[in-house]
Amino acid sequence: MIHEKNNLPQLRVEDRGNIRWLIVDNPSRLNAFTMAMWAALPRLIRKAEEDPEVRVIVLTGAGEKAFSAGADISEFETGRTAEKAAEYDALNNTAFEAVARCSKPTIAAIRGYCMGGGLELAICCDLRVASNTAQFSVPAAKLGIGYNPRWIRPLLAVVSPARARELLYTGRRYNADEAFAMGLVNSVHPSEKLTEAATVLANEIAANAPLSILAAKRAIDEFTLRPENPDISALDRYVDACFQSEDYIEGRRAFMEKRKPVFRGR
Ligand code: COA
Repeated sequence: MIHEKNNLPQLRVEDRGNIRWLIVDNPSRLNAFTMAMWAALPRLIRKAEEDPEVRVIVLTGAGEKAFSAGADISEFETGRTAEKAAEYDALNNTAFEAVARCSKPTIAAIRGYCMGGGLELAICCDLRVASNTAQFSVPAAKLGIGYNPRWIRPLLAVVSPARARELLYTGRRYNADEAFAMGLVNSVHPSEKLTEAATVLANEIAANAPLSILAAKRAIDEFTLRPENPDISALDRYVDACFQSEDYIEGRRAFMEKRKPVFRGR
């Protein structure tokens, strides 16, 4: 069953089982993000984190044409002037951080254009599945935009420095196969199968123990954020929480009883 939980018309929220879909829906601008959309995203992520029914969050774009063509350039003349650039970037950054630091697994399901801030948003998700129609680019250099250094780190967690340089220096558009070859996306699917592929992946993750996934997620984040000086004690606490959990009891009992476990995230 699909529950519609509307907040902002351009950012739709739908629950399909334990999967929360956040759908970028600004079709007249290829799902570009307005400032209001950047501002709304952290709240939507927080709501998904707080909802115990939600196991996985999938971000996608409405329609066939775009995941998102990035920031809404029509707002730049007034909202991203030289004086307001830092303010704009802070708004943008809060949205990216909310996705990147989300305590639940996130998947970007990408059809069509995935550009600039749209690509960064996808990069901030844990996993990316793409349609064979997807196109990727970071056109900052084509617009004279200084790409915020805070957004380079997540990019470098996904692609090699040489690929990051190529993406940023050229601003070139890459097709889905090229994106797959550079590790930008986890898998590529025919466009009409993308929703199904994202759903299968999300359900596979949703069936597993949430605390185990969180421990893995925090560890991978920490090692990419602070490879030289990771806080292992903090990571150990996530692992301890797994061993103390009802889900660990359920997991081992289900195995012995030859049945599927039913995990509750506690
Ligand atoms: N912000 C605002 N409007 C955008 C937009 C954006 N990022 N991307 C696309 N649009 C609008 C176009 O202005 C156009 O509006 P119009 O119909 O009123 O003229 C509409 O969306 C369709 O885009 P169009 O350019 O006609 O489609 P296309 O298929 O020929 O090209 C793109 C698609 C994505 C290659 C092209 O729109 C583009 O380069 N967009 C900007 C992408 C970008 O630089 N993003 C980074 C922003 S920091």
